[in-house]
Amino acid sequence: MNTNRLSETLRTSLNDQMTKEAHASQIYISYASWAASEGYDGIANFLFRHAQEERNHMIKFLEYIIERGAKVKVDAIPAPPADPVSVQDCFEKVFEQEIGNTESIYKIVKQSFDEADWATWHFLQWFVKEQTEEETLALNLLDKIKVAGGEKASGSALYSIDRDLAQEPDEAKLAEEKTAMNP
Ligand code: FEO
Repeated sequence: MNTNRLSETLRTSLNDQMTKEAHASQIYISYASWAASEGYDGIANFLFRHAQEERNHMIKFLEYIIERGAKVKVDAIPAPPADPVSVQDCFEKVFEQEIGNTESIYKIVKQSFDEADWATWHFLQWFVKEQTEEETLALNLLDKIKVAGGEKASGSALYSIDRDLAQEPDEAKLAEEKTAMNP
């Protein structure tokens, strides 16, 4: 009896996405290491925490594939890209990384819709919301550096950003969760 509830197309896409989340975790670890080596310990702490979130995302995909009776294939993770050249470059790379991930998840949402695989479609809605949060978080980082002067940000402005990020929450608050009474 076949107990696999995923089409091969969706299984492959979900498996590839699992590898992408692992890759994202490695990218955040590499940027965090770069930040630590530059003396930005707050930024490094923030990025290390985020690397852990990406690993949790990887596990979510892995568990879902198994739950649906399909087989997981653990693939090689590509090497992270080159180190950023500045704090602004680092935050821009984080933003681009998240946009790429959102697009990748949207493609699988579309596939699940086309196949009428509503279990997978429903599972992916968590990631759709998570990606909005991650993009907001990355945009907030870019805003901070812009206000501080971008590439021309002074040492003391970068020091403040670094100190703030050490305490930054892991999750961004989304517009849809804000109310007039609780902005
Ligand atoms: Fe797993 Fe940053 O998205």
